[in-house]
Amino acid sequence: MTTPHSLTSALAHHIRQTIVEADGWIGFDGFMDLALYTPGQGYYAHGSTKFGVLPYAVQDGVRAAGSDFVTSPEITPLFGWTLAHQVAQALQVTGTQDIWEFGAGSGALALQILQALQAQGAPLPRYTIVDISGSLRARQQTTLAAYAEQVRWVDALPDDLQGVVLGNEVLDAMPVKLLTRIQGAWYERGVVLAAPDPDGTPSFAWADRPTELRPPLAIEGPQDYLTEIHPQGESFVRTLGHTLSRGAVFLIDYGFPEAEYYHPQRHMGTVMCHRAHQVDDDPLARVGQKDITAHVNFTGVALAGTEAGLGVLGYCNQGRFLMNCGLLSHMEAADLPTRVMAQKLIMEHEMGELFKVIGFYKGEPWQALGFETGDKTHTL
Ligand SMILES: C[S@@+](CC[C@H](N)C(=O)[O-])C[C@H]1O[C@@H](n2cnc3c(N)ncnc32)[C@H](O)[C@@H]1O
Repeated sequence: MTTPHSLTSALAHHIRQTIVEADGWIGFDGFMDLALYTPGQGYYAHGSTKFGVLPYAVQDGVRAAGSDFVTSPEITPLFGWTLAHQVAQALQVTGTQDIWEFGAGSGALALQILQALQAQGAPLPRYTIVDISGSLRARQQTTLAAYAEQVRWVDALPDDLQGVVLGNEVLDAMPVKLLTRIQGAWYERGVVLAAPDPDGTPSFAWADRPTELRPPLAIEGPQDYLTEIHPQGESFVRTLGHTLSRGAVFLIDYGFPEAEYYHPQRHMGTVMCHRAHQVDDDPLARVGQKDITAHVNFTGVALAGTEAGLGVLGYCNQGRFLMNCGLLSHMEAADLPTRVMAQKLIMEHEMGELFKVIGFYKGEPWQALGFETGDKTHTL
């Protein structure tokens, strides 16, 4: 499904109004939030396809717009079936019975985990989804129709959370602040109005302001630099830490430890946009028509969790984690096309190395299956 121009234009007018009301400048985090999550108009709030393997779909013999990017559970069900081994162990060790998934996308991962636990003879009594996108909730309800009795959707966390928390590619979708160092001085990079398009649609430009925000300490060298900080993602992890009284957390995403994230060579930052399986670096153009993301600073995630009373169960790359959880035996039992897709999850040049998994415990530490070998917590 395409995004009609009228929707893009309505979103651009809404962002324009917000900028005007903020005296002409908003931080990039505010812009990213509006572009992705404005109800009914933001990228995650309207009905476009978003996730999938192909950039086009065929409807009634005609080629139509398809998805923008692919995530692990969309590549192969073996992702969720394998992760389910870790989830089953965490439920058993922590004596909990609930899964809480944040940012469930099309519902594919939830379906795979529910199927796998049922196949293991341990069907789950309750699976709770928290997603800020209303249009995706409708899609998740369709995907999970066979499990309607177990699955529920909530808008907010309870005061006391117990269970296993999952989030695949949710941290990278959370708004980030941009910081830039120019000739030794730090500025916050934000968004202002530019000359409108010929048809009157508002357009946007970058503008830097002096800032009191603390720049990342890990950046070495004097060169000009653009990067992100992640107050929203880290606050999300802190909230999890404060509310989880019993259970575990597993967050999967692309990113690095701080020393790699703020490496001198990464001086252009990591903000990226995805549309029709093409990547670009201009989040100010075609608002609402593309996903906007930033890589995750896993050191920041680990610090936020430990500040809020969690302990790190382990941290490693996705390839290692999935192999520790038994992906290879699932692959042996699968047909060739499935094996080919599953390879993408673990190959270093695909998703095996860039994607990482971090696990947290509350209370007493235990040895999690996924981190049995290749744990790199010491690099955080
Ligand atoms: C990149 S998609 C990943 C979807 C899915 N997990 C997958 O792997 O296919 C990001 C998801 O996170 C959701 N999201 C973003 N911020 C969120 C938040 N603060 N709480 C819950 N969901 C959020 C979006 O609506 C979307 O479903």
